[in-house]
Amino acid sequence: MGAQEAGVGFKDIPARMTGLQLTGHGDLDKLALREDIPVPNPGSHDVLIKVSAAGINNTDINTRTAWYSKTDRDSNDASWSGNAIQFPRIQGADVCGQVVAVGEHVEEDLLNERVLVEPCIREAGGSVLDLPWYFGSECDGGFAEYTIVAARHAYKIDSSLSDVELASFPCSYSTAENLLTRTNVTANETVLVTGASGGVGSAVIQLAKARGAKVIGITSQSKSAEVISLGAERTLSRDENAIQTLGRNSVDVVIDLVAGKQWPDHLEVLKPFGRYAAAGAIAGPLVELDVRTLYLKDLSLFGCTVLGEEVFGNLIKRIEADEVRPIVANTFALSQVAEAQKQFQLKQHIGKLVIDLSIES
Ligand SMILES: NC(=O)c1ccc[n+]([C@@H]2O[C@H](COP(=O)([O-])OP(=O)(O)OC[C@H]3O[C@@H](n4cnc5c(N)ncnc54)[C@H](OP(=O)(O)O)[C@@H]3O)[C@@H](O)[C@H]2O)c1
Repeated sequence: MGAQEAGVGFKDIPARMTGLQLTGHGDLDKLALREDIPVPNPGSHDVLIKVSAAGINNTDINTRTAWYSKTDRDSNDASWSGNAIQFPRIQGADVCGQVVAVGEHVEEDLLNERVLVEPCIREAGGSVLDLPWYFGSECDGGFAEYTIVAARHAYKIDSSLSDVELASFPCSYSTAENLLTRTNVTANETVLVTGASGGVGSAVIQLAKARGAKVIGITSQSKSAEVISLGAERTLSRDENAIQTLGRNSVDVVIDLVAGKQWPDHLEVLKPFGRYAAAGAIAGPLVELDVRTLYLKDLSLFGCTVLGEEVFGNLIKRIEADEVRPIVANTFALSQVAEAQKQFQLKQHIGKLVIDLSIES
């Protein structure tokens, strides 16, 4: 017997599990596969989930390398929340699994259900958090056989998709849906998305299309055809001058995951009263803003990380209605997270890489 709280479903849970621990900031050697990690004990408002699949995200690497630190890689501010990461930490923001035990204050009908975990965590240990956490960052996540989360963050899902396919959705697609929600994208608007072939970008294309918007994707030339097959009306290559190709004042919304040198152009192509939203800065976080562009065009700029309360539930509905499709580029065993991260960083894939717990190590 392992996890032993008052509640339902605790028999047959082992005491120890295999999981991948991040032991500190640094290179891939900071990832340690352990077979003796205690199975977490769910509190009275939590569920215990047997993880079946967990997606790879940039945040796993950003956290490991202390990319979030703004103080020259000082590890004291290297998390989403600007605080120090507690080690060892089990990462993994994207979880699909089965609820195998529930705390005493959790509805029993969640037991045995297949769930997706909402990665933006507002409640932990039975309390509402002052500032949300991210799953696998401020608390342990899904790179392990079992994980716990407050029941309100475990969403039942009714879908014919496999667990691996479902695990490709939570972080990227909820980030994408949040960006579109914050910018209030509506039918017939034109949305320009950077990093269009990536996990978030490919989700933005599908979710914007589901709203009836038209999408232009910025992507590597080699990925253009696939980005169009996802629903983009056209693509621009990364090195193309967006002002020359699209014209100034030509799009309603820019969804930016890349930032970097071309950032000023993205404000120029926005129409007056246009909306710009960022959730990433993979080409470099420091950009030059001409404040005249911002105020003379009445632009709105949104930074997007904490999910709106309705966003994850809306995403679940879109998955259940088959309005979005999973794009799984490759799968790996839990013991192969380092290999998966290496492949992930090459950025030659389209969509997501997923850890499949059913693959033998
Ligand atoms: N705030 C949040 O809640 C949140 C959540 C998820 C992700 N993120 C962030 O959002 C960003 C995108 O995440 P993702 O999961 O979609 O990443 P991803 O799957 O790695 O895709 C990123 C894409 O960006 C493009 N790219 C990479 N390096 C580039 C460069 N130097 N210049 C221009 N384009 C480049 C590539 O697409 P092309 O080859 O098509 O150009 C790449 O496939 C990351 O910075 C991530 O940390 C934030």
